[in-house]
Amino acid sequence: MNELHLQFLASPGWAKMLETDLLPWILASGDLGDDVLEIGPGPGLTTDLLRTRVPHLTALELDDDLASRLTERLAGTNVVVVRADATDSGLPGAQFTTATCFSMLHHMPTPQAQDLLFAEVHRVLRPGGQFVGVDALDNDAMRAGHQDDTFVPVDPDTLESRLAAARFTSTEIDVGDYQFRFRASKGR
Ligand SMILES: C[S@@+](CC[C@H](N)C(=O)[O-])C[C@H]1O[C@@H](n2cnc3c(N)ncnc32)[C@H](O)[C@@H]1O
Repeated sequence: MNELHLQFLASPGWAKMLETDLLPWILASGDLGDDVLEIGPGPGLTTDLLRTRVPHLTALELDDDLASRLTERLAGTNVVVVRADATDSGLPGAQFTTATCFSMLHHMPTPQAQDLLFAEVHRVLRPGGQFVGVDALDNDAMRAGHQDDTFVPVDPDTLESRLAAARFTSTEIDVGDYQFRFRASKGR
């Protein structure tokens, strides 16, 4: 991520947006269960929202430096930070009750990598587990904010079939002004 983007994701303004925009939607997803996975926590403001609401949280982060800083900041809490690529996490199968990814899919280099992530999330979820996420829509403002940065937006119109290819069912997608949100289930 570029430095400006990183600063924004660690800012009080972003924390406020997450609390007013994202949190009500997360809460509307119902019980997240006792063992939750967050993919791509970055500086961890989304981790802070989740960790006070679930018994145990695993935060899976690709970037060495971000993973180290989060490990240090959240030492002694209910969060375990794992430094790994979410397309091949090394985590045990059928462990998690819910998996989340907030504003991270567009930071993956290709649609193929995103599809690998969907398959990996399906593998690590328990039967009946849910996958919930939010990501950016493709527009000029988003592209401008990702200069010198990876920006591979997911087309929400194709997401249901891509999740179905990874064996998710009951997919719901809400498209908003600047982002879309989705929920999908792993069958029992
Ligand atoms: C834009 S940040 C989102 C941070 C946070 N979720 C938020 O909404 O404030 C995206 C994060 O996803 C991480 N990421 C990108 N690809 C990843 C992968 N394959 N596995 C795990 N994390 C990844 C990036 O390193 C970055 O920290």
